[in-house]
Amino acid sequence: MLAIRLVREPERLDTLVLPVRPEGPDSPPALVPTASPPADDVRAEAASLLPAARLTGAAGEVREHLRPGGTPARLVLLGVGDGDEHGWRGAGAALARAAKNETYVTVALPADAAVALRGLVEGLLLGSYRFRLTEAGGTPALAEVDVVVSDPDGLAPTLATARTTAEMTRLARDLTNTPSSTKNPGWFAAQVAEAAADRPDLHLRVRGPEELAAEGFGGILAVGGGSASGPRLVELDWRPADARTHVVLVGKGITFDAGGISIKPVPAMKLMRKDMAGAAAVVAATLGAAALRLPVRVTTLAPLAENMVSGSAFRPGDVIRHYGGVTSESTNSDAEGRLVLADAMAYAERELRPDLLVDLATLTGANAVALGKRHGALYSENDGLAADLLAAIEAAGERAWRMPLATDYLDYLGSDVADLHSSPDRGAGSIVAALFLREFTGDLRDRWVHVDMSAPSWSEDEQAELTRGATGWGVRGLLRWLATLG
Ligand code: BES
Ligand code: MN
Ligand code: ZN
Repeated sequence: MLAIRLVREPERLDTLVLPVRPEGPDSPPALVPTASPPADDVRAEAASLLPAARLTGAAGEVREHLRPGGTPARLVLLGVGDGDEHGWRGAGAALARAAKNETYVTVALPADAAVALRGLVEGLLLGSYRFRLTEAGGTPALAEVDVVVSDPDGLAPTLATARTTAEMTRLARDLTNTPSSTKNPGWFAAQVAEAAADRPDLHLRVRGPEELAAEGFGGILAVGGGSASGPRLVELDWRPADARTHVVLVGKGITFDAGGISIKPVPAMKLMRKDMAGAAAVVAATLGAAALRLPVRVTTLAPLAENMVSGSAFRPGDVIRHYGGVTSESTNSDAEGRLVLADAMAYAERELRPDLLVDLATLTGANAVALGKRHGALYSENDGLAADLLAAIEAAGERAWRMPLATDYLDYLGSDVADLHSSPDRGAGSIVAALFLREFTGDLRDRWVHVDMSAPSWSEDEQAELTRGATGWGVRGLLRWLATLG
């Protein structure tokens, strides 16, 4: 992966990247003043290029200028937009793509560099991401970036935060992109064990089918029952001594969603290896919290199961007994996510007794119907908590939109044979799923946030820091939010 170094003065100079910002509709863009300015003649030359460069200064614009025999030998003008973190993130991603023929580049940052550095580093590391099995476009050659700043030591923590955030997002992308032939529940749990192995301060417990049965996790067992690869429940705990707040994160971990007996049609099934993106995000965020030593206790629960079609699969019309004893009637085995989440949330509420509960899930196709491709659907009864999480998600460069937990649909959850109907087929799909989950929050009802992230978990195209395939959505927002708790 890309090596990024902070330097006060460049020790080597081949390609120099200079930031450029818009100056209004009728003017060419301007060079952003940088901490360690290039030699006056180089700067003057860069400025002289601007009127003819057909740049606006928008984030992500890139122009390369050759200076044969010169030092630097190439100048790159890089649009950074308003120069906020989003602009720099887009610029970093564009630079990673544009510099594919370079082995190293030198980037000059503004004097007040923290915001720019965070965006640049995340953009570089996320925009250059390739999944190892599908790197048909070739791995970007760019291996090293020297970032020129006035205070390398003071900025080291910012670099570490940005790097960890990006690395954990890349981990979530890797897990989510992995084909389901590899990624069964046992494999996923083993990946978590490997990632947590060199950290004695992280505690991991993995429950297999026998333990799940002994403790009454009926939802996870029902959904996982049709697969040759048995279900798991991952419980990963980051417990710093100085924590005052305890957060439980729950992530939907369906390693493949065929729909079960209510089997999906071909177009709907083709991407269902991504149905564990919620689990990937909460695990990666927890590993990130530990790596950054955030002073907040985080327990992550990832209920993992494969929703398959077989003689041992659960059936439409079955009644499931969840952890803690609440029963649900399922008439559509494709509404499996809420069944595994219900067990994990009931367990969190009854046994872990946290201060706050957040679940992330690729729960319904209705998320994209309501909000399009990029926004998660966020639900909470707690306005302050919802606002805090939305703000963190937005600041991190992800997007979510608050949705109503509209109790108008509560009667849809009525069943003649169980406490709840889990899959009413009467519309308002994302809201009804959220209302179903709410039934398992107990005392935590107003300290709970649910995010339906089916839509933003995947991208069809490259866009700023997003690459094709899994996006790692949620890791960045969760880490930002956790960092505010302490
Ligand atoms: N994993 C799907 C939801 C999904 C759809 C995620 C598209 C990503 C992209 C989920 O398990 C599902 O099948 N939901 C059903 C619920 C319905 C049966 C009540 C849906 O959304 O159609
Ligand atoms: Mn499903
Ligand atoms: Zn699913």
